[in-house]
Amino acid sequence: MYPATRTTNFNQSMIREMTRLAMQHDAVNMSQGFPDFDPPEVIVDAAVEAIRGAANQYTVTWGYPPLRTVLARQYTEQLGWTVDPDVHVCVVCGVTEGITTALLALLNPGDELIILEPGHENFRPSALLADAAAVPVLLETPEYRIDPDRLEAAVTARTRALLLNTPHNPTGRVFERDELDALTEFVNRHNLILITDEIYDRILYDGREHVSPGSLDGLVERTVTIGGLGKSFAVTGWRLGYVVAREPLSAAIRAVHDYSTICAPTPLQAAASVALDQPTDYWAQMREEYRERRELIMEILGRAGFSAVRPQGSYYTMAGYRNIDAPQAAWDSHRFARWLTTDIGVAVVAGINFYTRDREKHGEGVVRFAFAKRLETLREASRRLSTIAV
Ligand SMILES: Cc1ncc(COP(=O)(O)O)c(C=O)c1O
Repeated sequence: MYPATRTTNFNQSMIREMTRLAMQHDAVNMSQGFPDFDPPEVIVDAAVEAIRGAANQYTVTWGYPPLRTVLARQYTEQLGWTVDPDVHVCVVCGVTEGITTALLALLNPGDELIILEPGHENFRPSALLADAAAVPVLLETPEYRIDPDRLEAAVTARTRALLLNTPHNPTGRVFERDELDALTEFVNRHNLILITDEIYDRILYDGREHVSPGSLDGLVERTVTIGGLGKSFAVTGWRLGYVVAREPLSAAIRAVHDYSTICAPTPLQAAASVALDQPTDYWAQMREEYRERRELIMEILGRAGFSAVRPQGSYYTMAGYRNIDAPQAAWDSHRFARWLTTDIGVAVVAGINFYTRDREKHGEGVVRFAFAKRLETLREASRRLSTIAV
């Protein structure tokens, strides 16, 4: 017996592997990007109510109607065109399903998808599941900016789409208007579909505002906008995301979603419709709490000898470890991340994990810290990092 070749081209997720290692060694888990604090009460209550009530059967394939109505209202404002809940919205099982579904719906076998690196480790396997190839384009340190020349050099006759994640995991970048303008010009000139992963659109610092690329002139027709509830409401285990796109892209995405999952969990969609209707206070408070976490983690990592990039959005920082005062600073990032987990008790992800091309050149000497944690958890991580022995 043998598996399909499409499954043999990627390895097990290193991020999920680090979580398992963290559990084995009772490490503070700063590897996988999920909060260790509770979701807002309003969303939990709404879910319990929905389960006790009538929302326990399949709902409409493309989403529980009240949730689609709220999303259509929100995205009409965010994208600047009239989003029809019955045509343009598809609720899916997490952003991960949203991306895989979009790629299955929009790419043909052999097509190429441009991705930016460092980047989320799921993107390449998602392309491979669609029998397509992911072509990485480097975001160069220390600024991690989009370089139009590098984009241009990645194009071939098979290039069909570009996948952009902003705010960005793992660098914490929020791509700026001039970078998005260059990207707009690029995808138009090559007639590409733009797929955007905006899962961190609510987690921004220093007064930054999120700009959905699909709202920009020249991108409305060709952009598939993907977002999710997991990070914004601290419910990563609920597996809720959504895709917003114009026709004909939308219909193809809905069809793939239908036959792969039928629908996302109904009671959780009902709860999401309540949560998304919250007053803006919730978001302001959430941003303030993330600001405090960011300040604390920057201070902790600085004190421990790491050189961490100050995030503009999301809840990650890539931290250089070459200057920490310990022999392990000379190690490769994979060994270093495992040592930090098993011996120091703080789990992180090796920088090399966020690259598929020239991994040793770009991914060494850094590890990623995820800081969506209670302040007391961050302080415990600090205590442990202070035990690094020279
Ligand atoms: C950029 C990015 N996209 C997608 C995901 C996964 O989203 P979901 O849990 O909604 O599938 C993550 C999770 O860390 C992420 O960082």
